[in-house]
Amino acid sequence: MEYSNTGLNACLVGLQWGDEGKGKIVDILTESFDIIVRYQGGSNAGHTVVVNNEKFVLHLIPSGILRKNKYCVIGSGVVLDPRQLLEEIDELRTKNIEVGNNLRISEIAHLVFPYHKKLDELSESEKGDEKIGTTRRGIGPCYTDKMARNGIRVADLFHPEHFKQRLKNIVEEKNRIFVRVFNADELSWKDIYDEYCGYAEQIKPYVCNTVVFMDEAIKGKKKILFEGAQGSMLDVDFGTYPFITSSSVTAGGATIGVGISPKHIHKVLGIMKSYTTRVGSGPFPTELNDELGEFLRKKGGEYGATTGRPRRCGWFDAVAVKHAIMINGVDGAVLTKLDVLDEQKTIKICMGYKFGDKVYDLFPMDLAARPGCQPVYKEVPGWQKDTSGIRNVKDIPLHARNYIDTLEKILGVKVEMLSVGPDRGQVVSLV
Ligand code: GDP
Ligand code: IMO
Ligand code: MG
Repeated sequence: MEYSNTGLNACLVGLQWGDEGKGKIVDILTESFDIIVRYQGGSNAGHTVVVNNEKFVLHLIPSGILRKNKYCVIGSGVVLDPRQLLEEIDELRTKNIEVGNNLRISEIAHLVFPYHKKLDELSESEKGDEKIGTTRRGIGPCYTDKMARNGIRVADLFHPEHFKQRLKNIVEEKNRIFVRVFNADELSWKDIYDEYCGYAEQIKPYVCNTVVFMDEAIKGKKKILFEGAQGSMLDVDFGTYPFITSSSVTAGGATIGVGISPKHIHKVLGIMKSYTTRVGSGPFPTELNDELGEFLRKKGGEYGATTGRPRRCGWFDAVAVKHAIMINGVDGAVLTKLDVLDEQKTIKICMGYKFGDKVYDLFPMDLAARPGCQPVYKEVPGWQKDTSGIRNVKDIPLHARNYIDTLEKILGVKVEMLSVGPDRGQVVSLV
C-alpha cells in the first residue's frame, strides 16, 4: 500500500503500553520510505510482521529490513545487545532476508553486557511484589550505566586495550555489587572480554558514524521513517512511573536517539490498538480480569513477542491515549486489531478515571501512587461482523465506522489507516 499522506520524514510511535502493532505498520509504510531508523529501546522490543503466513519478530533491527533496497539504521539511542543482534541477523538470513550493506549501526550506541542482564534479574527478584515485570534484557541497568558514565559503546570494542581496561574496572565494580548486595556469584571480565571481541569482528561491517549517514540522507532528501519501540505510556518521563521502561519513547526521543534536529520530523503517526494491553506490572485502569479479558488475549494472540508472557487486556483507554497524543504531537493515527472486537455486542471506551467522587479526564501523572482508580465508560454498539477480509473503506460495517468516528472525536485525531489482521495485506486506507 502506497502511503502518501506524509511529509518527507515521519515518526511512528505507540500510544499505549507497547505492542500496538508498530512492526506491522512500519513494514507497510516502509514501501514509501528510504530509510527506517530505531532510536531507543533495545531487545526488550518485539515487533511482529507477518508476510504470507510467514512470521518475523524483530527486536533490534528496524522492521523495514524485510523490504528490498531500503536502509535500516540502529541509532545511538538504542542499547545494543550484540548477541541478540547476531542471532536476529542469522534468523533473517535463514528466511532469505538480505542483511548487509542495508544495515547501519551507530558507533556510539551503548552495549548491553551480561552483567546488565544479571542486575536486571537480581533487582527484579529483590523487589518481590513491587517488581516492574521487566523483559530482563538488561535495559534499565544499561541505560543507568550510560547516564552514570559507566557505559561501554560500540566503538570501544575496536580499541582492544582501552576496552579491556574499561571492562575490567566495570566488571570488578559490578562484582562487588553482586557479592555484597545480592549475595550472588561474580562474573569473569575475561570471559566477557573474549566473547565481545568475537562479536566486534562480526558486527564491524555494519558499524558507522550514523550521525553523518543521517545528515547526508537528510541533505539528499531521502524519506526517513523513525520507528518507535515500546509505547508512550512506558516513557521514562511521561509514562506510569516507575512501571515504565528506561528510554524516551516519544517522538521527541527520535531527535536525541539519532542525532538529528527536531525540524527534520515532519509528521508524527500514533499507533493504537482498538483495545488496551499491557505486559508487566503497573497501573492499568481498564484491565479486564474476566472471561472477556481472556477472550481478547486468545483472539488477539496477546502473548509477549519477546518474553511469551500473557498480556493483560482491557478496554480502550481514551484518557491514556489522549495524554500520549499530547506528548507526541500526533498528526494522524493508525487503529490496529479492530478484527479482535468483531464478536462484541457492545464496546466500551474509557472517558475518565474516578477516584472517590472525583472524575478526571486528564491523565494523572501520579497514577501509580494513587490507589482506587475506577474507569468511567462510554458504550457504543458492536458490529458483530467479520472485518478481517475488509480492504476497502466502503465495506467497513456501520457500527465499526461509528466506533472509529467516536474515537476520532474523543481524541481529536484522524484515523488514517485501519488494521484488521496480522498479515501485511490486512489493512484499509482511510485517507
Ligand atoms: P509491536 O511491538 O507494536 O510491533 O506489536 P507486537 O508485534 O508485539 O504485537 C502485535 C501483535 O498483533 C502481533 O502478533 C501482530 O502480528 C498482531 N497484529 C498486528 N496487527 C493486527 C491486527 O490488525 N489484527 C490482528 N488480529 N493482529 C494484529
Ligand atoms: P514493543 O516495542 C510491551 C515493558 C515490560 C515492563 C517494562 C519495563 O514490542 O512494544 P524493560 O525490559 O524495558 O525494562 O521493562 O516495559 N516493555 C514492553 N511492553 N512492549 C514492549 O516493546 C516493551 N518493552 C518493554 O514488560 O513492564
Ligand atoms: Mg511488541
